[in-house]
Amino acid sequence: MGKQKGVIESKLKENRVFHPSIDFAQKANIDSDEYERLKKWAESDWEGFWKYFAIKKIDWFKRFDDVLDDSNPPFYKFFVGGKLNVSYNCLDRHIKSWRKNKAAIIWESENGDTRIMTYQELYIEVNKFASVLKTLGVKKGDRVLIYMPMIPEAAVAMLASVRIGAVHSVVFGGFSAEALRDRIEDAKPKIIITADGGFRNGKAIPLKSKVDDAMSGVEHKVDYVVVVRHIDRDIHMKPLRDFWYQDLMGDPDYAQIYCQPETMDSEDPLFILYTSGSTGKPKGVVHSTAGYLLWTMLTMKWVFDIKDEDTFWCTADIGWITGHSYGVYGPLAMGSTTVMYEGVPTYPTPAKWWELVEKHSINILYTAPTAIRALMRLGNEWVLKHDLSSLRLLGTVGEPINPEAWMWYYQTVGNERSPIVDTWWQTETGGHMITTVPGAQTAKPGSAGMPLPGIFAEIVDTEGNPINDPNKGGLLVITKPWPSMLRTVWGDDNRFIETYWKKFKNKGYYFAGDGARKDEDGYFWIMGRVDDVLNVSGHRIGTMEVESALVSHRYVAEAAVVGRPDDITGEAIVAFVVLKEGVDKTHHDELVRELREHVQKEIGPIARPQEIIFTDTLPKTRSGKIMRRLLKDIASGKKIEQDISTLEDASVLDKLAELRDKME
Ligand code: PRX
Repeated sequence: MGKQKGVIESKLKENRVFHPSIDFAQKANIDSDEYERLKKWAESDWEGFWKYFAIKKIDWFKRFDDVLDDSNPPFYKFFVGGKLNVSYNCLDRHIKSWRKNKAAIIWESENGDTRIMTYQELYIEVNKFASVLKTLGVKKGDRVLIYMPMIPEAAVAMLASVRIGAVHSVVFGGFSAEALRDRIEDAKPKIIITADGGFRNGKAIPLKSKVDDAMSGVEHKVDYVVVVRHIDRDIHMKPLRDFWYQDLMGDPDYAQIYCQPETMDSEDPLFILYTSGSTGKPKGVVHSTAGYLLWTMLTMKWVFDIKDEDTFWCTADIGWITGHSYGVYGPLAMGSTTVMYEGVPTYPTPAKWWELVEKHSINILYTAPTAIRALMRLGNEWVLKHDLSSLRLLGTVGEPINPEAWMWYYQTVGNERSPIVDTWWQTETGGHMITTVPGAQTAKPGSAGMPLPGIFAEIVDTEGNPINDPNKGGLLVITKPWPSMLRTVWGDDNRFIETYWKKFKNKGYYFAGDGARKDEDGYFWIMGRVDDVLNVSGHRIGTMEVESALVSHRYVAEAAVVGRPDDITGEAIVAFVVLKEGVDKTHHDELVRELREHVQKEIGPIARPQEIIFTDTLPKTRSGKIMRRLLKDIASGKKIEQDISTLEDASVLDKLAELRDKME
């Protein structure tokens, strides 16, 4: 074969392997024999495989007729003709069983407040709030925007929306009013559910005021805003538009004890969740009802080895897909106890998380490498102070984990007893795609593992040909549809096709946007994004988003944003900025501060550039495209060894390198 395009040299080599203990493997939901059986079954009888699990795991109002309708790719339909309700599957079926008095949500705030809601209590709360929503005029198919701190009412709002067939769109509470406004304009919600504020790092952070800011200037009319009283501060409430959650829930005219779950089609949209892409504004990833529910349940069972006696803690905020799938839907559909924590890992001390593990005897902990690295840096003593012997399984997600952080997690947190699952997936995939199954497979620090049974992934070159050399990386694709895949981009079918399906149109592959390598054992090593998407602390941020935030500032003529490797956050944002003519550059530090704050205001604190470098010009190709690859090297202090033949003006590079040197 000739030279393959799109092949990436892989430098990471890690040879250690870790087997699950005999005890873990013997008790695991899936042992190696069962794993092999599942894998072969999915390969030989793909439809039969999905049919079996969909019937077994979901309580249907009406069973589906067909597993897959692939008559109009990439608009695949799963479990065609089936009728169900996700809130029914998360609540009603459990309260008919012994689980009714089991803890559904254990909530704790950083200030020490704790609440435990049983399935029965959660069921009543969701029913009441669903009837409130109905009374406020929310109907099947309407959008409900949720902008909340990490409090049980956030899960209640999600479940109440899906109970009445409304489509929720949760917006991360850390996003700014501007970011919220974009999402309001795109999703056009009938109603917004928020809180007066939330607690974070010892402070009460306002939320409702950001909703007010976001709504001023929005053309779309939101009928009502429901506000949970949480931080107990005086806030502005607009008469006839804004209502306190607690008032509505205490009013029998609004909050009835039972609200019939709406009959939903398998393919009805369940929620929209915005995520960053390489171009334009964030896109609303749309998930549908049955396939998503099924896969969150199966992965809870297979990957998290969930058992009825487990207390499960996924540390992700509900504003991200991880919080949706493994904070709320997966655990609740499985009848598990899920932990919800409001606050940061290091407040009031860096022992907070470990205190929670001990206090609630948490068995399974799922978090992101960035948190692991941050806690690792603070020293072992915070961990060792606490009895973590309840832990039996650890998980990571969101970005590649470096072997050093993996080892610390394994040894210091897990006491070399708990297997680690490194789960690769995306907002778009709904649930885990590539990971080890902990009782069945050995783990390699830094490798996510293999595609799960039923999931088919490959590494290919830019033409879609498989790359079989274990030392070479390529593009990660999913070669067959899967039940929890995104169905479209909200209001933009074209963007859905363009972003994910166009690249390998002839093959019908889903293009994930990641580079990866497959080793001799078939283990996948994720190498990071191949597009203009940054991964900061496991959060996806489009370079374009930060650039447009920067150029919206009156001083900025042009901006280019790149990522630089960072020990804690994985990647850090570095912005190269060309100021407008006449801007006084003498107050360098003030300018930097102002621009960083401006980005924070436009998007949120996660998008604040760590460094801003002023330059007179940016390296561009002759066709005018900014050469971010070069800037990336400059930002990380590397020598430029790339092909610069397409560069319009090579002297720009010297100037930039000079600037870089000056800064060091
Ligand atoms: O680059 C991959 C990285 O996170 C991206 C997906 O981001 P998002 O949609 O925000 O979802 C994050 C949580 C599911 C992927 O394209 N990523 C996610 N998990 C891993 C990962 N990179 C390496 N290893 C992982 N385990």
